[in-house]
Amino acid sequence: MSTGHILAIESSCDETAAAVVEFGGGFNVKSNIIASQIELHKIYGGVVPEIASRKHIENITKVTEQALEEANIGFDEVDAIAVTYAPGLVGALLVGVSYAKSLAFALQKPLIPVHHIEAHICANFISSPELKPPFVCLVASGGHSTIALVESYTEYHVMANTRDDAPGEAFDKISRVLGLGYPGGPAIQRAAENGFSSAFAFPQVRFESSLDFSFSGVKTSVINLIHNYTQKNQPIPINDIAASFQQAVCEVLTGRLIDCAKKAGVKNIALAGGVASNALLRSLCEKVAEEAELDFHCPPPVLCTDNAVMIGARAYFDFEKGKFGGTDLNAIASLGLANK
Ligand code: KG4
Ligand code: ZN
Repeated sequence: MSTGHILAIESSCDETAAAVVEFGGGFNVKSNIIASQIELHKIYGGVVPEIASRKHIENITKVTEQALEEANIGFDEVDAIAVTYAPGLVGALLVGVSYAKSLAFALQKPLIPVHHIEAHICANFISSPELKPPFVCLVASGGHSTIALVESYTEYHVMANTRDDAPGEAFDKISRVLGLGYPGGPAIQRAAENGFSSAFAFPQVRFESSLDFSFSGVKTSVINLIHNYTQKNQPIPINDIAASFQQAVCEVLTGRLIDCAKKAGVKNIALAGGVASNALLRSLCEKVAEEAELDFHCPPPVLCTDNAVMIGARAYFDFEKGKFGGTDLNAIASLGLANK
């Protein structure tokens, strides 16, 4: 096995991130720098794409220098530059892609284009080195929601998708309507701690003919309920609504993950993506996995939400194969997980 360092860059949404990973003699995370723009977007209740792009431009050099400094290496010790090229906000992606292409050209090092959803899955490679594919992984984040059979860390088979909203999107929307702020996931989780999850039975959509799921129904149902309270001039039971909504979403995701694992006949299930940091989702998955005699894996929250370590992890597999990108690499806003 070759040894070296990959400098990885991520700028697909509202985090400017850079990391150095070292491979050969194990896989080591040498640095993980994340400049979050959350505070900036908070006042708008969600990510403003134009502001995100501008902030990435301001941050990207600083974050990269910090990642190298923390890893205690210079540019001359970097063996490849990895970057997220899809999917995401196109202006935000372009900042990382342009910067990485320039670096690769200046340093005369290979460029490795990374698909963001594949990278989320590969966070498990770092946190669960003992986990060997095949396994079934739920990727649930702000913009994506997919259950995939991971045949290897470079080969995926999509088993189920959301038909409409991603779960993170639903968390963010309901949080906004409840006045809990952005990002919605952690805010709903906090409010739910003081509420009853059985207070309201929100719809849980499961299609008969496929393993797909949907969150627009639960979202509409919660919003209608809130309007009802407002129209009657009654206080909104925020904590109970947050807890019941969280329960409905997490039960659907957990149920579907187990359905897919049974269909694929695997022994391991895993989580990935920002929503995977949700404590209820993690504990429900752990419980059903035990009942179904499956092993459950999940990265720590810092590797679930956007970061560049996962970009480095996914890039490592292409580095080993000598699979590189060229200076014609472009950013792509919409690009689902490709079936092998
Ligand atoms: O993976 P990520 O950082 O970005 C995307 O690729 O979209 O995911 C961000 C999403 C947001 O929608 C946020 O509300 C959600 O992950 N999230 C959570 C939690 N922490 C972050 N959702 C539920 N519970 C959480 N604790
Ligand atoms: Zn993400």
